[in-house]
Amino acid sequence: MDTVTTIAAVRERVRAWRRAGERVAFVPTMGNLHAGHLSLMEVARRRGDRFVASIFVNPMQFGPNEDFAHYPRTPREDERMLEAAGCDLMFMPDVAEIYPAGYENSTRVEVPRLSKILCGEFRPGHFEGVATVVTKLFNIVQPDIAVFGEKDYQQLTIIRRLTADLCLPIEIVSAPTVREPDGLALSSRNQYLTAEERRIAPAIHRALRVAVDRLLQGSDDYAAIEREGYETLKRVGFRPDYFAVRTADDLSEPQPGARELVVLTAARIGRARLIDNLRVSR
Ligand code: PAJ
Repeated sequence: MDTVTTIAAVRERVRAWRRAGERVAFVPTMGNLHAGHLSLMEVARRRGDRFVASIFVNPMQFGPNEDFAHYPRTPREDERMLEAAGCDLMFMPDVAEIYPAGYENSTRVEVPRLSKILCGEFRPGHFEGVATVVTKLFNIVQPDIAVFGEKDYQQLTIIRRLTADLCLPIEIVSAPTVREPDGLALSSRNQYLTAEERRIAPAIHRALRVAVDRLLQGSDDYAAIEREGYETLKRVGFRPDYFAVRTADDLSEPQPGARELVVLTAARIGRARLIDNLRVSR
C-alpha cells in the first residue's frame, strides 16, 4: 500500500490503474478506523480491482461547538489496518491540500431539503460540509465505485442525490451497519461514553427495534411511534434530538400504508451524540 498526501500523487496512481483498464473503488473516512469501516473496505476490495481509502477529518462538516479539535486521530493504526485490509492507496491530505483558500471561502455543494432536515436541523452546515468534501474527493480520486455505510443513512441519501444531480459517473454502494453484540452501532464517537453511558447506549437500538415491530404489525400511527421512541430514550437518560419514521428513499414524511420506511434517531448523552437507524420493508 502507498500512502500519499497530495492530490497530484493520487491522480498519478489512479491514472495508471485506469489506463490498465482496472476498476477503482473508493472509501472516504475520517480515520480512527473500526470494524464498521473495515466492512466497507471489504466491499470495496471485492467490487474493484484497486481500492483507495481516504482519511481526512473535514473541518467544514463540524459546527463551531462540535468536536473537530478532539475528534480521535490514529493515523498509524489506521495505516496498519488499511494495509491488512488489502488497500492499494491511502490518501491522507492535510486541511490546506483540500482547502487551499480556507474552507470558509470554498465553493460549497448544497443538497436542498435533504441537508436541512433531521440531523441537518440540529447540525446547521454539517451536510453542506459533507457534500462538499465528498464531491471534492470524488473529483480527486475519480473512482468507478464508492462505498458508504447505512449507519449514516441521511448522509448516504444525500450522497446518492448529489451523485445523480451532478451527473457523476460513480456507482454508490451501501454497506450494512456493523454493531456490538448488544446492538450499539460501532462509531468513533462511542469512545466519548463513560462506562455508565456505555451501559445505557444499546437502548437506541432497542427503541428502533420496537418502532420497527410496530410498523411491521401494520401501525400507520407514525406520530405515536415517534413519540414512544423519543420518550423511551429520554427516560433512560438520553437527550434525543429526534426520533423519526421516514420514507426510505427520500426521507420524506410517509403516507399511511407506505411500504419502504426507515426509522432514524439522534440522541445525546454526556459528551456523545449518537445516531442510528433501521430500515423496514412491509
Ligand atoms: P466516518 O464517520 O469516518 O465514516 C466513514 C464511513 O464509514 C461512512 O460511510 C460511514 O457510514 C461508515 N461507517 C461508520 N460506522 C459504521 C458502522 N458501524 N457500520 C457500517 N459503516 C459504518 O462519514 C464520514 O466519516 C464522513 O462524513 C465522510 C463521508 C468521510 C466525509 O467527511
